[in-house]
Order: sequence, then C-alpha cells, then structure tokens
Amino acid sequence: MGRIIAVSGKGGTGKTTLSSLIISSILDNGGKSVLAVDADPNSTLADALGVKTEDTLSGICEDMLKEKENLPAGMTKDRYLEYKIQQSLVEREGLTLLTMGRPEGPGCYCYANNLLREIVKDLTGSYNFTVIDNEAGMEHLSRKTAREIDVLFIVSDFSIIGVRSAARIYNLATEMGIKLSKSFLIVNKAREKMSFLEKEIEKSGLTLIGSIPFTDEIENLNLQSKALSELPRESDVIKKVDEIVRKTIFQLNDTVNLK
Ligand SMILES: Nc1ncnc2c1ncn2[C@@H]1O[C@H](COP(=O)(O)OP(=O)(O)OP(=O)(O)O)[C@@H](O)[C@H]1O
Ligand SMILES: [Mg+2]
Repeated sequence: MGRIIAVSGKGGTGKTTLSSLIISSILDNGGKSVLAVDADPNSTLADALGVKTEDTLSGICEDMLKEKENLPAGMTKDRYLEYKIQQSLVEREGLTLLTMGRPEGPGCYCYANNLLREIVKDLTGSYNFTVIDNEAGMEHLSRKTAREIDVLFIVSDFSIIGVRSAARIYNLATEMGIKLSKSFLIVNKAREKMSFLEKEIEKSGLTLIGSIPFTDEIENLNLQSKALSELPRESDVIKKVDEIVRKTIFQLNDTVNLK
C-alpha cells in the first residue's frame, strides 16, 4: 500500500527544502518509488529537486475548461484530464513529480483541489511513498488534499513562535478530522542549543523527531538557484534527514522490505 507523507508548517520554515531532502533520502535508501506532490500554488519543489516541470494541474484544468466544447470526440472531461495529467507527470529514477500550480480562473480553485484529491488518491496506490509539500499555514488542511496521512511532519523554524504555530497546525489538522497515523515536529535552521525551545515543545504535545542545523550549504545552493541534490552525501543535514526517515517513514510496518 502506498504511504502518504505530508510536510506542513508556517511560511519559510523549510517545508520545500525538507520535502526535497526527505524524497531523496527515501530513494537513496531503497524506497524505490516516490510520488512527489507540490501542493503549494507557489510551486518550488521542482527546483529544489532539480527537475523541470511544464504543465501544472491547474493549468491543465484551466485549458480543459476553455476547451471543454472542443474535446476529442467520445472523450469525457474526466478522461481528458486524466490523460493530460498522466502526460504532465515528470519522471526520473524512481521519482514522479505532480505540480498543482496556481489556479487563475474563478471557480477553478475548488475544482482543481477536488481533482487533486481524487488524483492523489488514485495515484498513491502506484507508488511506495507519496510526499506532499504543502503551502504555508493551515489553509491547505481545510481543503484536505489528503484525508489520511501516514506521517505528518510539521516544520518549525528555530523559534518559540515557530513551535506554537506548528502546534496550531497540528490541532487544526486533528480538528478537521484528517486521519493522522503519526505526527512529528522537525525544528529546522537550528543554530545552537535547543534548550530554550524545550518548554514550548513540551507544551505543544508534539514529538520532536529531529532538528536540522542552519547551514550555509543550503543557503548558498538557494542563492545560486541550484537543486538540493547537489548537497554532498556527507553533509550533516543529509545525515539528519536520513535518520529522521529511518526512524519514521521506514518504520511503517509494511515498508521494511526496502533493499
Ligand atoms: N537548514 C537550513 N539552513 C539554511 N537555510 C535553509 C535551511 N532550510 C531552509 N533554508 C532556506 O530557507 C528558505 C525557505 O526555505 P523553503 O523554501 O524550504 O521554506 P518553505 O517553508 O517551503 O517556504 P514557503 O512557505 O514559502 O513555501 C530558503 O531560502 C532555504 O534555502
Ligand atoms: Mg515551500
């Protein structure tokens, strides 16, 4: 069964960076197939992964709405969309990327989201893992891109406000009835001892699964618009992410048969 991993958190905490590193870690450690879903209208996951995207789900959706009177004979709207979406998937060595994009037309947002939900549901079965990079905050949760999440990572920056915000996101997700099998807090851009955050983390009720150091390596790749795949394997960040993946995703009971 395909496992669903979602990455959430407030703006700029490092959701896309970590989604990309988690995806690479799963693949580098024998996870075989990953569907990466960029569910943020401001799509940046392709760049982080170093892959090129052309069509987004929203773009396909809008084209279909414009062309709906001229679809090929005998083709329903849904069949046409399914076909176009299959064509739009970017595939590379075990990785498939689906980019949601930004819906422009009125009424398309809801439609695109409903569609994404259906597609994610259908596609996840074909991959060992689906990793969803969400947009900042909590809005995406109200749209319930995925109703059942095996592992939710909530990313906080190295601040008390970040941890509070992570707790709010977690509470909202549970209030909305999203089924969360496991949820973890990741503190990103950590600079020094974590002790000043301990109380707040305890109050949040979240389980801290790891902290990722602030590193110039990531900052520099970003400044040079380079993909995170260029981080050296011996980097501390990669080791930390591998450890998080091992302790969480690879512990899911039917994913042990990896290598
Ligand atoms: N551990 C780290 N060390 C140094 N810089 C980092 C680290 N993690 C992320 N960054 C930088 O922080 C910025 C925000 O990261 P990222 O885009 O991953 O965040 P995000 O949560 O996805 O943002 P958004 O809410 O806009 O989608 C980027 O410039 C990224 O390079
Ligand atoms: Mg992002």
